[in-house]
Amino acid sequence: MFQADLLHDKRILITGGGTGLGKSMGRRFLELGARLTICGRRAEVLAKTKAEFDADFGDRTAVYPCDIRDAGAVDGMIEAIWTDQGGLDILVNNAAGNFVARTETLSPRAVDAVLAVVLHGAAYVTLACGKRWIAEQRSATVLSILATYAETGSAYVVPSAMSKAGVLAMTRSLAAEWGAKGIRLNAIAPGPFPTPGAWQRLVPNARIEEAWRQRIPVGRFGEHEELTDLAAFLVSDRAGFINGESVTIDGGEWLKGAGQFNLLDDLSEEEWMEMRGR
Ligand code: HXC
Repeated sequence: MFQADLLHDKRILITGGGTGLGKSMGRRFLELGARLTICGRRAEVLAKTKAEFDADFGDRTAVYPCDIRDAGAVDGMIEAIWTDQGGLDILVNNAAGNFVARTETLSPRAVDAVLAVVLHGAAYVTLACGKRWIAEQRSATVLSILATYAETGSAYVVPSAMSKAGVLAMTRSLAAEWGAKGIRLNAIAPGPFPTPGAWQRLVPNARIEEAWRQRIPVGRFGEHEELTDLAAFLVSDRAGFINGESVTIDGGEWLKGAGQFNLLDDLSEEEWMEMRGR
């Protein structure tokens, strides 16, 4: 789909890049020539992913254990990346924390656990990179991974929805503020893309999983390659005029839930004929 050098020598940091969608994006960016940095809380997970990537692409992946909830740790990591590698061209805010719960049962710590990773963490990393880019007058781009419920809200994942909406607001605000400085910010709002981490926390059982699949117009969940190709395009120079946008990739899922008459899908032939005759 792309020229093999689309991201040649681009230095890309993916937060939460050791697992899930972050790992899939890292692999795709390496295929397209990037130099990759991944961070996450667990050093052993990062080391395992680096070993896999090194086996396939050579030594083009750096790892930094970092809990992005800690602003000091984030600034230390970004400073180390600038010292070790001369900086970054692209940041992907991918790290997330989430679980399903009835909102009235959440403790303050539970609310903070999600807000701290998804909202504060993304802000800390974006600002730590942004202030360096601006000081150096360097062009750069930020891509944040949201969820379709950043726009619609969603029951049972309220701290995550609040956080993703906040990251969308950050994306649009900074697109306006930093665009003239050569920094583009965009987002992807994915529907369901199965990963072990998200599925274990968010999908209660096989019945719910099947009901979820059924409400997606294209009749299936997303393939990681579909999201990673979109991400590669958005962070590439070919997307240089796209700024402040959130691209939905969900097979039509959220619209299916929204359209007033979408529930007529299971009307029988007789019922349609009866409607026609009225
Ligand atoms: C109610 C819960 C809970 C649950 C944790 N808590 N899980 N409350 N229901 N299921 C509460 C705890 O009781 C505690 O509060 C507080 O949250 C902090 O929990 P800890 O386990 O101490 O926190 P921590 O180890 O930091 O874990 C963070 C986490 C966890 C967010 C809670 O889920 C995590 O690390 N997740 C990372 C990976 C992840 O979530 N990936 C999926 C992202 S999917 P008290 O008061 O008891 O001390 C996504 C978008 C999905 O973001 C879109 C799908 C389409």
